[in-house]
Amino acid sequence: MHISRRNFFRTTLSTSAAVAAGVVASGLPFSEEAFGEPRRGWFFDPALNAFQATDAKGVIWLNSNENAYGPWPSMMPVMREALNFGHRYPRTEYGQLIDTISRLHRVKPSQVSLGCGSSEILRVCAEVFTGPGKTLVQASPTFESLGQYSRTRGATVRSVALNNKFEHDLQNMLPQGGEKVGLVYICNPNNPTASITPRKDIETYIKQLPEDTFVLIDEAYHHFALKSPDYVSFLDQPMDDPRIIVARTFSKIYGLAGMRLGYAVATEETSCKLRTYASFDNVNMVSARVGNAALHDDAGLAAAIKRSTDDRDAFLAEVKKRNISCIPTQANFAMIDTGKPIRQSIDYFKSKNIMIGRPFPPLTTHARITIGTPSEMKAFWSAWDERKA
Ligand SMILES: Cc1ncc(COP(=O)(O)O)c(C=O)c1O
Repeated sequence: MHISRRNFFRTTLSTSAAVAAGVVASGLPFSEEAFGEPRRGWFFDPALNAFQATDAKGVIWLNSNENAYGPWPSMMPVMREALNFGHRYPRTEYGQLIDTISRLHRVKPSQVSLGCGSSEILRVCAEVFTGPGKTLVQASPTFESLGQYSRTRGATVRSVALNNKFEHDLQNMLPQGGEKVGLVYICNPNNPTASITPRKDIETYIKQLPEDTFVLIDEAYHHFALKSPDYVSFLDQPMDDPRIIVARTFSKIYGLAGMRLGYAVATEETSCKLRTYASFDNVNMVSARVGNAALHDDAGLAAAIKRSTDDRDAFLAEVKKRNISCIPTQANFAMIDTGKPIRQSIDYFKSKNIMIGRPFPPLTTHARITIGTPSEMKAFWSAWDERKA
């Protein structure tokens, strides 16, 4: 069906107005309820955008594991300056960012691939390593987008429940029967459980995999896990196994989720495969410049890590005070048991203008709470106590 520009805007506006009036807030094809399904059009759905407007007054966003404090102080002047070059392609900036990342991880520039968020890295991995006749093996629950990209690509997705320590159940993630596993997804720390799978166990597991099975290790929450003795990044040792791809993002500790910037490190050969499927100039001028600046700001990074650790300690103290069951967290969020069906909890907090994490089946009463600023968390806890009272 052809949709004219005029009709597109008419449809858009009427849907947004209906949502604003609370008429179609739930049950939309793109609503939170549908998150377990392939996210067709999720990011472009005008109704959802009206429902979750970034600039909505008074809303406390504890649902997307963002950095509540925003970009670091050193980043604002860099972003403002970069706008002067908004009419240019990021020529030198692209290469400079790759160069900085390669020096940070002691790899060659040709081993680094940039992404429009690490989401693009995940999508590219689905393109390259999955497809009809191939299986993606992942945990359950875990971050959903790679599974969704792989399904879209025609692959089979096998989700293996985390073990009772909320680690990846690696033995059950080995290929089974005649299964042809193109890609294994290990999200470490895992989203949504914030739990760690020990590095040594992952190494043993990789040794048992066939030579043509690739492993994507998603370290989106790396900086929050540094205190855990079991956690060691896969970027801390030479990247010489062509089957391993490590993904990182600027969306979390760096506070740049809106800038859409991520990267992957792999061997030269594997990186070359990834780049075949990435868009040209997939990182814009502002993101490239601010990402580069962020990686040079060691004091900014140390301050952000300290602040997030302090905030997490304060959150856990409140959890303990109330005797709430909480999965041990190594991230900037935590899974706590609300003792009520998760959908009811989401709706309750929404009625208080607090957005908490979406449902993560098979967990039915746990809520994923992103740890916000002290004042945001004060509002969260007073809503929690009011509900229990
Ligand atoms: C584990 C994990 N990987 C990847 C992403 C995607 O992040 P981005 O595309 O913002 O880099 C997220 C976002 O929350 C995540 O939790």
